[in-house]
Amino acid sequence: MRLKRSPGWRALAGMAGRALVLVAVLAAAFGCSVPFLREVGYATLAQGERNGHEAFGRDYMIVTQGEASSRAAREMLERGGNVVDAAAAASFALAVERPQSTGLGGGGFMLIHWATSGEVIAVDFRETAPRRATEALFQDPAGRVIPGLSTEGIRAAAVPGLVAGILAVHGRYGKLPRRDVLAPSIRLARRGFRVYPHLAQALLARAQALRRFPAARATFLKADGTPYREGELLRQPDLARTLETIAERGTAGFYAGWVADALLAQQRELNGLITRDDLEGYQVRFRAPVLGTYRDYQIVSMPLPSAGGIQLVEILNLLEAQPLGRLGPSAAETIHSVAAAMQQSFADRARYLGDDDFVRVPVAGLTSKAYARALSQRLPARARKPWELEGDRPLPPEGGETTHFTIADRWGNVVSSTQTINGWFGSGVVVPGAGFVLNNEMDDFSAKPGMPNKFGVVSDRQNAIAPGKRPLSSMAPTLVRKNGRPVLALGSPAGSRIITCIALVALNYLQFQLPLYEAVAALRYHHQWRPDELEVEPPGFAPETARALEALGYRVVNRDSGCKVQAVAVEGDRLHGVSDPRGEGLALGEDWPPLARDPRRRAPIPPD
Ligand code: DON
Repeated sequence: MRLKRSPGWRALAGMAGRALVLVAVLAAAFGCSVPFLREVGYATLAQGERNGHEAFGRDYMIVTQGEASSRAAREMLERGGNVVDAAAAASFALAVERPQSTGLGGGGFMLIHWATSGEVIAVDFRETAPRRATEALFQDPAGRVIPGLSTEGIRAAAVPGLVAGILAVHGRYGKLPRRDVLAPSIRLARRGFRVYPHLAQALLARAQALRRFPAARATFLKADGTPYREGELLRQPDLARTLETIAERGTAGFYAGWVADALLAQQRELNGLITRDDLEGYQVRFRAPVLGTYRDYQIVSMPLPSAGGIQLVEILNLLEAQPLGRLGPSAAETIHSVAAAMQQSFADRARYLGDDDFVRVPVAGLTSKAYARALSQRLPARARKPWELEGDRPLPPEGGETTHFTIADRWGNVVSSTQTINGWFGSGVVVPGAGFVLNNEMDDFSAKPGMPNKFGVVSDRQNAIAPGKRPLSSMAPTLVRKNGRPVLALGSPAGSRIITCIALVALNYLQFQLPLYEAVAALRYHHQWRPDELEVEPPGFAPETARALEALGYRVVNRDSGCKVQAVAVEGDRLHGVSDPRGEGLALGEDWPPLARDPRRRAPIPPD
């Protein structure tokens, strides 16, 4: 993509240059050795304050969004399990520890890189539309989308895939018995854990929805109907029973037997669409990943039904020819190039992408260098014009639903997985007696062509609802390799922002050569074509950068991105893990080389 250099650009470059000099002088005066990091909003925590969010190791690295979940994964490795055992234990533990984000009633994606074969396997355990679902499911007879129907209550739920997915992967590649990988999650559900700030916030925000369904109320609200607060003990005995049944019976313990009976009875009672055929017919798909390159690096990411991998490759293809290295990450010109590439990828998503088991998608073309070259000739010198669209509205702030974890071992095996129930506590429906939340993934379909979903993303009929189809996703577990070896593995929650956050972190690390922590902590921005906003997280761009972007026609808004990137880098024989400092995750290595520990971090599991 070549941007026309107008006289305005020279003025901009001059302004940016003066700003950098000023920042450098001020920073030198205040003792900051890396002035440019401050200018672009880098978190500048000292090493000691980073404990928990950054770790180093040689034997393993585990980065998840839950303290107990990271420990569950480590327990597997300590017992002689492999990365898949650790990933399975983390998945089930996260289903307990982050019931607002993921769970047995959800689905997800996983990439596994095996060092000996160099093979990467993409596992798709995305939820599917029930067989009785129809294209106009969420429209009234006049063809208007009925607000809330695809996000709240029983019909928002698609057929869950998480249990089938994790057990399929574990069955194929795990070394430890199924019972062992489920043991930490069963323990955590039964004993309970202290509610942490993000969970308390999610419980409070969704208390009204949870009150509507008796099992949700009994699981997540106290006897007086108020949500659990920070520091209080949340126990999930019904969920413990379900997990135990899965430990005993495998997939049959979820897709058949008493758990399935409870789910189906509730579907009948509340007029849901999921049937026994849907549960028995659920299929995990092992797929070939999406591949691309960025300079010397190979990009390996999630294929359809995720839009994430295709969009990421397209964004990086568009940026490869740009002089980003010379401009630096904070230059208005860089931000313009990146935002233009982001928009192009979302425009292509809207037009072309959908579940390719159902519709034809030109994946090879969209991810080709030739397409990026052709686009570069005509990408705009200015921001795109605002769109007048039905339902075009500002993006809602993201609450950090969904979850991602990355695990690596000393042999170079890596697992990167994003799992979700979509919104906070999904549909708000909990299966009675079984203690898990049903997703609201049906909202990721296009309820009507051009109508934005919960994340403001628009799509066309390619992503229309059809029986058994998987809704398009943004979740993008990603791996970067060089000479066949993993260099960086990462992923994030945050709906459509997942893709742009991953692109930014990858650019920060690979292109701008920032240390991993800074690459993750750096200021984030996002543009998804519709709505026509260039979103930047607080505190926002430097004032002169914002002015320069506004002069180019961008509508710049300050808003949290919600991304919580969980990344592992392989740096020589050192594994380097970073759990986004914006979140509450835990990076666990075996402290190699040893770091001072912060005694303030409390153990989440109370003693018996
Ligand atoms: O699959 C998707 O793209 C969404 N269901 C993911 C939702 C999500 O990341 C929400 N997180 N903040």
